[in-house]
Amino acid sequence: MTTSFWKTLAQPIIGLAPMDGVTDSAFRYIVATYGKPDIVFTEFTNVHDICAGRLKFLDSLRYSEVERPVIAQIYGKDPALFYQAAHVVCELGFDGLDINMGCPSKNVASSGSGAGLIRTPNLALELMEKTRNGIQDWADGQTLAEIGLKPSALQSIAQLKAEHPNLTEHQERSSIPLSVKTRLGFDCNIINEWSDCLIQGRPEVISMHGRTLSQMYKGQSDWEAIAQAATRIQQHGILAIGNGDIKSLTDAHQRIHNSGVNGVLIGRGALGNPWIFQEIEQVRKAFSTKSPLEITSLEPSLEEKFEAMIKHAECFETINGPHHFVRMRKHLGWYCSTFPHAAAMRVQMVRTNGTQDVKNILDAYLEAQKTSEASEFASIPA
Ligand SMILES: Cc1cc2nc3c(=O)[nH]c(=O)nc-3n(C[C@H](O)[C@H](O)[C@H](O)COP(=O)(O)O)c2cc1C
Repeated sequence: MTTSFWKTLAQPIIGLAPMDGVTDSAFRYIVATYGKPDIVFTEFTNVHDICAGRLKFLDSLRYSEVERPVIAQIYGKDPALFYQAAHVVCELGFDGLDINMGCPSKNVASSGSGAGLIRTPNLALELMEKTRNGIQDWADGQTLAEIGLKPSALQSIAQLKAEHPNLTEHQERSSIPLSVKTRLGFDCNIINEWSDCLIQGRPEVISMHGRTLSQMYKGQSDWEAIAQAATRIQQHGILAIGNGDIKSLTDAHQRIHNSGVNGVLIGRGALGNPWIFQEIEQVRKAFSTKSPLEITSLEPSLEEKFEAMIKHAECFETINGPHHFVRMRKHLGWYCSTFPHAAAMRVQMVRTNGTQDVKNILDAYLEAQKTSEASEFASIPA
């Protein structure tokens, strides 16, 4: 029996929330470099795609060692595929496995996956059971070939695993913890009943975004509802994590204090702001010493932001090659949001095709800044 990494984490836990199309391996690497959240999740990955093993779809399960503990998030609705996908997640060396029961997007939820599972609690429990069985059977020595994955899938999974040579050589088979991330309900808040149901599936952690599916991202995350459910969840020895609208560690501290959750996940607050996790130790210190939160770090300077943008772009190209840079552009736009002349800079950033383009724009920006300062300086009467 191995100790779950969740049990070894200092509390409150402050993690990076999963965001499809955003929290890819390059972004998580940058976040780990500049701030180091306690945990990170991959973008959600469909169990069918995992089991089919096409490399293009497995991209979202790439990670680097610096991110650990790293949790693979999966979604779908077919219990047999969850059983197989659990084997793959274990084989790839993830620290944990999370089931998405909160995605509101039409093509996910309306097919009965993601937040659609809130309407089919028995299926949600069956998915948890099959996933847990998959994890345990893998830990007991069952191989991917034995569960019937196709040779082409075995090959691409082996290729992905080879990115972690230490794992390939030394991996011990041990079971990893199962967690669930969800919302308050489908079209109304039923988090108390819903969390009572999820508790029966015995996950180690339940993360809750304080909105219903119908709300999508409208209104505000309901932290009262999160607090109530957290108490019920914790009574069963399960960790309760809250999520929604946290934009700073000061917000995180206040939400944890008022709701009694074991931790929080930050999503949109980290866009263009990998520094947001920089002082999570200060949050823990405030709780352990029962003193006010003291955040000492300053807003990163323009130069520091430029350096991070270049590093992020380089990292993205190293991981993905030169042909997918279009997926990097939105991140560059987010970094610009606090710059003077942000709009003009953003327009240029969303046209970039590689790191060199980013460097050129930043150089031109600095040059223009110098010139305008010089002309302003020159216009001051002697
Ligand atoms: C662009 C985007 C993609 C998301 N993708 C996922 C996902 O793959 N899995 C998931 O559980 N939640 C996903 N979410 C929801 C977030 O994890 C989080 O619950 C939500 O954004 C609320 O937290 P925040 O206010 O800190 O952003 C996504 C959110 C956004 C904005």
